[in-house]
Order: sequence, then C-alpha cells, then structure tokens
Amino acid sequence: MLKTIILAAGKGTRMRSSKAKVLHKIADKPLLHHVYDTCQQLENNSVLIVYGYEGEQIKRESQQLATEWIEQKEQLGTGHAVQQAEKYIDKHDTVLILYADVPLLKKSTIVKLLKNVTENSMGLLTVELDNPKGYGRIVRTNNGAVLKIIEEKDATEAEKLITEGNTGIMACPGNLLKQCLAKLKNNNAQREYYLTDLVEIAVKQGLQVKTNLAESQDEVLGVNDCIQLAHLERVYQLAQAKLLMRQGVNLRDPTRIDVRGQFSQLGQDIKIDINVLFEGVNTLGNHVSIGANSCIKNATIGNNVEILANCMIEDAIIADNCRIGPYARLRPQTELASHVQIGNFVEIKKSTIASASKINHLSYIGDAVVGSQVNIGAGTITCNYDGVNKSTTVIKDEVFIGSDTQLIAPVTVGKGATIGAGSTITKDVPEDQLTLSRSKQLSVANWKKPSKQP
Ligand code: UD1
Ligand code: CA
Repeated sequence: MLKTIILAAGKGTRMRSSKAKVLHKIADKPLLHHVYDTCQQLENNSVLIVYGYEGEQIKRESQQLATEWIEQKEQLGTGHAVQQAEKYIDKHDTVLILYADVPLLKKSTIVKLLKNVTENSMGLLTVELDNPKGYGRIVRTNNGAVLKIIEEKDATEAEKLITEGNTGIMACPGNLLKQCLAKLKNNNAQREYYLTDLVEIAVKQGLQVKTNLAESQDEVLGVNDCIQLAHLERVYQLAQAKLLMRQGVNLRDPTRIDVRGQFSQLGQDIKIDINVLFEGVNTLGNHVSIGANSCIKNATIGNNVEILANCMIEDAIIADNCRIGPYARLRPQTELASHVQIGNFVEIKKSTIASASKINHLSYIGDAVVGSQVNIGAGTITCNYDGVNKSTTVIKDEVFIGSDTQLIAPVTVGKGATIGAGSTITKDVPEDQLTLSRSKQLSVANWKKPSKQP
C-alpha cells in the first residue's frame, strides 16, 4: 500500500512566531492540513506525520487527522526525519515523502510522480527555477540521467548554475527506502542527515531516478516566512476564483475575492462584487448577487437574493427573493423566509422572520419570532436582555410597528396590531388595535430662552 510521510518537524525560525510553522494558515486552514487533505484524495494511502518542534501544539490542533504521529526529538535533517518513520514502512509499500510547509501541491502532480515508482525506479519531483538559490540542485550526467542532488551549501560554483531544483518531494519503493536510509551520513556542510543523499545511493545501487517537472514554481513553493505565506495565500485565492468562474460565477474582479472554506452548492447567474469574503460552508442559489465588501459565513442563500454592499452574514438562512443591506448584519440563527427585506444598519440575531416582512432601517431584532407581512419602523429595538436572561419577542402577522419603538421582552404583539411611534411596549399587545405608550405632548407658551449672563 501507499504510505505518505509528511515532514513537519522543522522549527520555521523565519516565521518569527511562537506558533509552529505548519500551523500557520492559508485560507484559514493550517499548512499541514492542506497537505493532509491532498493526501486524503489518494487511494489506499495511510499518512505518517513526523513532528518535533511544538509537537504538542501541532497534535492538539490536528486531532481530526487520521494519522500516525512520529516524533523526531532532535531535528538532525530531512533524512533523519524519515528514519524515524522507517519502522512503519513495509518493504512492499510505496513511500511518498511530502513537506508540511508546501501546501499547494496538487493531487494530479502526486499521481504522476507515483507512476514513476517501480521495483527498480523511484520518482523525484523537480522544478525549473528563475532563482535557484537555497534549493538543492539536480545533477545529471551528459545524457540526462539523474546522478545526485547537491545542496546549495555543498555545491561547487558550476553546480550552483544548475536551475533545476529539488522540490524535496519524492516517491520510492519501501525496500529501497529501508536499505538506503541506513546508509545516510552527515558529512556535509550542515552536519545533517540529508534525505536528498538517498538519490545518489539509489543510483549507485543501479536504480533509475525518474523525474517530473512541477507545473509551476508556486505549486512546490515552501513557506519559510510571512512573505511567502502571503504570496501563497494570493496564489490559492486566485485559483479559487478561477474555479468559481469556471462554474459560471460572475466575479467583478477575481483578485478581490477570498474564499476560506467551501461552497456546498452554487446556482447559476451568481454575481459577486469586489472584496467579498466567504468563510465556512456556504450555499448560493440562482441569480444571487452580493455587493462589495460583504462577509458571508456558513450561510444558506436562496434564489434571487440580493445582498447589497457591506453586509455581515453569519450562520443564517435566507430564502428566495430577499433583499439585504446595505450595511446589514445577520447574526447566527437568523432565518428569513421569502421576500423579506432587511435594510441598512439593521442587526438580527437568533430570530425568524416570516415572508414579505420588512425591517428597513436602524433596528435590533434579537430572540424574536416575527410573522409575515410585518413592517417594523426605523429604530425599533427588541429589548431581549435584562442583564441576566434573554427573553423572546413574538410579533404576529401583519403587524405595523411605528418608528423608535422598544419592545421589552418577553412580549407578544397580536396579529394585525399597530403600535404608535415612540412607544415603549411592556405588556402584550392585542390584535388589530392601535397601541401606544407616549407621554402627552405639551408646549409652554410664555417660555423665555435662557440668555448668557453679562
Ligand atoms: C530541502 C532539501 C532541498 C530542497 C528544499 C526544497 C534536503 C537536505 N534538502 O532543503 O534539496 O531544495 O528542501 O524546499 O532535504 N524537517 C524535519 N526534520 C528535520 C529537518 C527538516 O521534519 O530534521 C522538515 C521541515 O519541517 C520541512 C522539510 O523537512 O517541512 C524541509 O526542511 P528544510 O529544513 O526546510 O529543508 P531545506 O534546507 O529547505
Ligand atoms: Ca525549506
């Protein structure tokens, strides 16, 4: 079977972070988990992760990964790291070696690499580099056969001119790995056991090393510092944007959308304006349009929904034909039925709003059950919290609530009721009547404006 060893023990000094390097994130997912998820797409594969630096932290944040955790107590090099995993390898296995800090490697590239593994050949993924500095170089004979990999620090001036770099990613038969690992030495510039020396050892034993060239430098780029992390985030996001556009989504600018998660469903004729952020799992129906600068997280959005600019939507369900925003905030457990309108500076939390109701300006609706065809006037607030407990406000169908009303929960407003503007409602409101609570207006006829004392 296939055994994949993911090397994740390195310190990642250049990140200048207390967090292990492989836990730094792209699209909100740790680098290590990107690599692991790619491995999960391979058939008949089991994963071994070699950890060391900040190992407890890595394991704690990776509990969902089905893997063997192998500790490398001292980081004595990539070869030494693989040696720690040797006892988990059977000689009949095929072994794939990946780096936890190379997050964007594609499944298709791995599949090609694995095709080069036979009883007497191994596969090596190389990359043509504009600037090969820092990489191990692929040294070939005149007729192009791979001879060895030489690390930058051990290379001669002539070898440093080679632009074919080692990605570090390789695959080989288990028996070869087991034989050769024991032969690694650390007599080199860094006093490390280099995994790369495996190549020369294999060639000397008469094995053939077959190479694949990576499609792009970014696919095999390792993250060593925050600049590379940010670069790969952009590469990843552009790839996500292209994936969306291939599915017919109309993006105003593919460089100004971020997807940190997945779409469980995408309808037709979706339009997305600039600077929209998607997080978690989102569902978008047909003819959805999303305005600029909106953040949408774990939302289910129906057909013909229009979300205007600057909305925040989280853990909410929005049925067909709703219009939201601009500047609206839908917080968790908000459920809007069809044809609901939510306008600017309206916050809704843990509430259901039935069809065709409107809350168009400057309102807070929390812990409420709102009926259909309700109109909630500007500035209306459900006072759902007494400082200790949360209470429910029930507003039945066809209610009209005048502007600047406070509904002190728990309270129920009966069907068809009207509430006069500026009311503070503390008791249940009967059906179909006008209810208001307002102090009488009074004017003082002979009142004098105060003037400044001389
Ligand atoms: C390695 C390769 C180099 C290649 C480059 C590509 C070797 C000797 N060199 O160099 O040819 O061009 O990657 O990026 O392999 N790690 C451990 N334990 C260790 C040391 C490293 O688990 O003791 C892990 C690191 O966490 C990292 C990976 O191995 O995921 C690579 O280690 P790193 O030190 O970055 O190798 P490079 O010197 O960049
Ligand atoms: Ca590296």
